[in-house]
Amino acid sequence: MASGFTGVVSLTGLLNTLDPMNVLLTGSSGWLGRSLAPLLRSLGHQVVGVDPVPSPDTEVTGSVADGKLIRQLVFDHGIDAIIHGGALHQPNMATHPVDDFVAVNVQGTLNLLSAATEAGSPVRRFVHTSTTSLMISAELRAGSFDHALWIDEDLQPLQPRNIYGVTKLAAEHLCRMHHEQFGLPLIVLRTARFFPEEDDRLHLMDQSDRNAKTNELLYRRLTVDDASAAHVAALNRAEEVGHGTYIVCAPTPFRREDCDALMRDAPAVVERYFPEYRPIYEKLGWTMFPSIDRVYDAGRIERELGFRCRTDFGAELAQLANII
Ligand SMILES: NC(=O)c1ccc[n+]([C@@H]2O[C@H](COP(=O)([O-])OP(=O)(O)OC[C@H]3O[C@@H](n4cnc5c(N)ncnc54)[C@H](O)[C@@H]3O)[C@@H](O)[C@H]2O)c1
Repeated sequence: MASGFTGVVSLTGLLNTLDPMNVLLTGSSGWLGRSLAPLLRSLGHQVVGVDPVPSPDTEVTGSVADGKLIRQLVFDHGIDAIIHGGALHQPNMATHPVDDFVAVNVQGTLNLLSAATEAGSPVRRFVHTSTTSLMISAELRAGSFDHALWIDEDLQPLQPRNIYGVTKLAAEHLCRMHHEQFGLPLIVLRTARFFPEEDDRLHLMDQSDRNAKTNELLYRRLTVDDASAAHVAALNRAEEVGHGTYIVCAPTPFRREDCDALMRDAPAVVERYFPEYRPIYEKLGWTMFPSIDRVYDAGRIERELGFRCRTDFGAELAQLANII
């Protein structure tokens, strides 16, 4: 990640939990794929990466929208598990028409699910990378609330505000439907942000990229290493769980009762949990966001899958204290 901002993932608890599998990994040339493919290989799995963009982690240059190709890959390689990370996502809205989002995110997901559930298919588990973005309505994005929104998997109604969120939600429904109709063990990971690029609103904040990303670990970000580890945890537990949808984010220190104060004066709330944060930030010339409008609660994945991100705000703060 930019600015050397990476988390350290311990593989304790992930190793030796599964026999080696043949894993079809979509989006293998992307930010997540380039972290996840080596992790899967290090755990003994054979990885078949598919992505339209070539890279050392991509064995097959092609698209999930090509149903014939996907079916052939699944059967020819005896694929035991699919991890579907490939997608057109938020930044692609500037470069791709909405039809492409439907073709890749909806039809592409359907192609994978169809190959996974066809009679005689070797696929026994499926992990789908989704996004917390589909839980953010236009109203929330516009900052229309006077308190921070506490967001867990029970949030309703889901009213995604753009084609990215709409197609990701449609893909989630296809996943659920295939689990219900065919019993395919399937886990959906609604991942919070882990992109390495600068936020497109950074210029409004007068903060460095690393300052902003560290702040976000409090409520809406995780490292790419943790995102990869979450996919392995989901792969490991899919058969046991059957079907589940989980938010994946660094664990927040906040509680529901903080939501009013977070919107009014976020630095004061952060200081209650981390009294040491202000002197560290002052030495670095960093600032906290004045207001926080949402909190992603990743408690369910911890309770049900035993997965917790390794890197959180406290861990980053401890690292910063060592270098200043
Ligand atoms: N980066 C984030 O902050 C973030 C946050 C939430 C969810 N996600 C999700 O995580 C997943 C991976 O995102 P990323 O950050 O690695 O993005 P990325 O853009 O770096 O990687 C996505 C990959 O998908 C590939 N892809 C595009 N069209 C495809 C197709 N037709 N068939 C197969 N692959 C295709 C791209 O070429 C790219 O390599 C995506 O599903 C995204 O929606 C990302």
